[in-house]
Amino acid sequence: MAPNPFKPSFGSTPPLLVGRGDLIADFGDALDDGPGAPGRATIYTGMRGVGKTVMLNEAEEQARSRGWLVISETATPGLVERLTRNHLPRLLHEFGEPKGKRRVTGVSIPGLGSINWANPDKTEVETSFRFLVEQLTDILAKHETGLLLTVDEIHRHLAGDMRTIGAVLQHGFREERQLAFAGAGLPAAVSGLLNDDVLTFLRRADIHHLGAVPIDEVAEAIRQPIESAGRHISEAGCAKAAKATSGYPFLIQLVGYNVWRQHPRDETVTEADVDAGVAAARRRIGALVLEPSLADISEVDRSFLVAMAADSGPSKLSDIAERLGVDSNYASQYRLRLIQSELIKPAGYGKLEFTMPYLRDYLLNHAATLGMGNGE
Ligand SMILES: Nc1ncnc2c1ncn2[C@@H]1O[C@H](COP(=O)(O)OP(=O)(O)OP(=O)(O)O)[C@@H](O)[C@H]1O
Ligand SMILES: [Mg+2]
Repeated sequence: MAPNPFKPSFGSTPPLLVGRGDLIADFGDALDDGPGAPGRATIYTGMRGVGKTVMLNEAEEQARSRGWLVISETATPGLVERLTRNHLPRLLHEFGEPKGKRRVTGVSIPGLGSINWANPDKTEVETSFRFLVEQLTDILAKHETGLLLTVDEIHRHLAGDMRTIGAVLQHGFREERQLAFAGAGLPAAVSGLLNDDVLTFLRRADIHHLGAVPIDEVAEAIRQPIESAGRHISEAGCAKAAKATSGYPFLIQLVGYNVWRQHPRDETVTEADVDAGVAAARRRIGALVLEPSLADISEVDRSFLVAMAADSGPSKLSDIAERLGVDSNYASQYRLRLIQSELIKPAGYGKLEFTMPYLRDYLLNHAATLGMGNGE
């Protein structure tokens, strides 16, 4: 029996990645175009499960296939320290000058000595970080290659580290070094960082808001892995499964996975398998994506969403304000924040709709546990 080809887990590259070909090529082009190409600082943003981490994996692949070195990191505390203490010295060690010539050892930097990591001095860390980046890119330049740094889950809690990284990269760009940066983060986190005055570097980056994938491409993302694994699915079955995902990448994998596992030994995936698989995916999506997405926002924003869920289609802002017992000015502020988080989007004048599939159902079923009554 062939193993289930679908990958409904965060950060896992899907068996067939769809809808992002142009974006991936853009990043590759920026690497080819040389220093000064705007895409050499790229940020992917969008709601949970939309495929940001997967895009970072692809950006890394673009770099590796061109012989670039890649440092892949996550914006957790100690980021700059890890870059300065571990990643850069390791790469310098691996790709440094042959023995006999001057070599960089650890972070003991000529003229600076080593850093007291128990209580590091900010400028000292930045200087060393910059020094190591310069050393490495000098060496890489001789081999006509460069360095890509990717940082996942960028967040304003780490604004200090991002500022340091931004300053060093900006300097490297000015010196026309072969350097590139790709970051990813939730919309609210990214816009929080962009509003930080000091982060000019990020503001100048190419920012891509990832969204849903066109349904016909989703059908291909479901059909191809099934057929490659030796099974068969009808056009109609495929179209039905694709429609149930609303083009939302996490659901492509979750639906595919659950459709496959109904009768994994049978050669054909039937429409009944599709129906059962879609139903199973719907049951799982709440805990996997909707709940964490709701946990990212404030309680008042959640109550706005619960109030929206009472409508069967797009909601009128004035109705929501009335249900919440707030004036329309106040409601507009929630609206803006939620649009910024990409959980809802405008749907014609004065109207709003959910972006995430099944969020309405989830809110209706969980309004009580979310601590908001029924939202009326
Ligand atoms: N273009 C795509 N085609 C098919 N599947 C995709 C695509 N992009 C992502 N996926 C699948 O969607 C799921 C989520 O992807 P990923 O982990 O990159 O999302 P994310 O935006 O980083 O989420 P989070 O904000 O929670 O970190 C994974 O299972 C991945 O395989
Ligand atoms: Mg991610």
